[in-house]
Amino acid sequence: MRADLGSLAASLKAAPLKDLATARAGQASLSAAGWTADLSRQYLDAESDAALLAHGAKAGLEDAAASLFNGDIVNPSENRPALHWALRAQAPLSGEAEKVRQSVLPALEFARRVQEGDIRTVGGASYKAVLHIGIGGSDFGPRLIADAFADLAAPGIELRFCANVDPWDLEHALTGLDPASTLVVGVSKSFGTEETLYNLGRARKWMEASLGAEASRQIALVTANPDRAKAWLGGNDGYLFDMPLPVGGRFSLWSAASLACMIYLKAGTFEAILKGAAEMDAHTRSAPLAENLPMRLALLDFWNASFLERSMRVVLAYSHRLRMLPTYLQQLEMESNGKSVGPGGVPSPYSTAPALWGGEGSVGQHSYHQWLHQGSRSVPSEFILAPDFDRDPEGITALTAHALAQAEVLANGRSLEEVRAEEPDLSDAVAKQKVHAGGRASSFLHHKAFGPEAFGSLVALYEHRTYFAGKLWGLNPFDQWGVERGKTMATRLKPALSGDGMADDPVTASLIKDLS
Ligand code: F6P
Repeated sequence: MRADLGSLAASLKAAPLKDLATARAGQASLSAAGWTADLSRQYLDAESDAALLAHGAKAGLEDAAASLFNGDIVNPSENRPALHWALRAQAPLSGEAEKVRQSVLPALEFARRVQEGDIRTVGGASYKAVLHIGIGGSDFGPRLIADAFADLAAPGIELRFCANVDPWDLEHALTGLDPASTLVVGVSKSFGTEETLYNLGRARKWMEASLGAEASRQIALVTANPDRAKAWLGGNDGYLFDMPLPVGGRFSLWSAASLACMIYLKAGTFEAILKGAAEMDAHTRSAPLAENLPMRLALLDFWNASFLERSMRVVLAYSHRLRMLPTYLQQLEMESNGKSVGPGGVPSPYSTAPALWGGEGSVGQHSYHQWLHQGSRSVPSEFILAPDFDRDPEGITALTAHALAQAEVLANGRSLEEVRAEEPDLSDAVAKQKVHAGGRASSFLHHKAFGPEAFGSLVALYEHRTYFAGKLWGLNPFDQWGVERGKTMATRLKPALSGDGMADDPVTASLIKDLS
């Protein structure tokens, strides 16, 4: 009789992680699309691993993959399929998926024509700068791509980003730019996001000061709501690109939402990102559950969050190119599965998505790694070692050694006996402060030839992992009801901030008084 996951977790949580990991060393790795994930330093053994797999099978993860790629309604809140995978398909599809696949092509074509000077400014010159205005899924992905591959930028075009409604964000982004040679790319799937509309309005005024009524001819809008975009343009010219409705905002970096990146990056770079993602899609739709990397990672997330009750997962990107990945993953995973009630109004019986945070390794070792090693909480970390291995060998060796060392010390710790044996002259007080509890789990992902394709396959891996984890938690990973309330409340509070009326909440009212 296979013990249930709860009782297995209770016994494993108390087991020495070093022993569990040693037993699984070299036998708990999975690979896909050039990525390898070593999961041996997790609180798992053969029995619990098998029980998790059985749970995944019973939960229908393989059917969930088929539903996704069949274009079934996997987003019941909006009665839509989720077709982000179609954006990167390397061959024609059919039906709605084919329309989604084709929606990227005009953006890629436009980008090529801007780069080649075939599309020019109102004054007939080549564009010198692109300003991307968007927020959330209309910002994090393009910003991550631009940062990761800044060395692959096409010559002569500068790229800036603006997301926040804090006026300084736009003003900082505009510093040094000439409206006459700048293309503004406004990205908003709804074309109703306050921050983006505010910044677009200010950017247009900035353009009009130099271009007058012609300003909108240097504005490109990317949206799933062309009617609102046309109304905003007010009958003037402007470039319009489609952001398909069946593509969720946080799953949209493959789409025309990344138009600014397509213009900024050398021709072929963005296509390589799409190709890498398609390779991970092929793995995801064909690999059986036991060998399916996103499914196995989703089961691990389910195990850590819902049975070991880990409230966080820390992503440590040992790759300067991926330093913004944790920020991107925060929206992908926490906006997708930071929920407690499923699409049928049924509360999830599990603790669902953990808080995801992290940063760049080895930089984080000089910040929060103290907390990771000796803090009072044991949380799982996720190492992603993906430098350009062909760069200076001394730096690559150091980065690799640090990543390996951190994972080992987190798991194995350092006992008081070991401290005393290695440093016999320490006072008792100091020796005790040098103990590492250990038992801190980690996964170790790595890729031997990181670049645009590997980037694409990694992000696709996390998208599918998020989808499967949502399935396990009984959630709809494609809606976000929880973000609406705050926006509504902010609108209600604006009059009180300008002295018209009072906030209902006494603390808010007091704060408004202090701020006035
Ligand atoms: O955060 C809420 C949200 O709707 C995200 O899901 C989305 O990516 C972001 O706001 C921006 O939305 P839009 O692209 O419609 O401006």
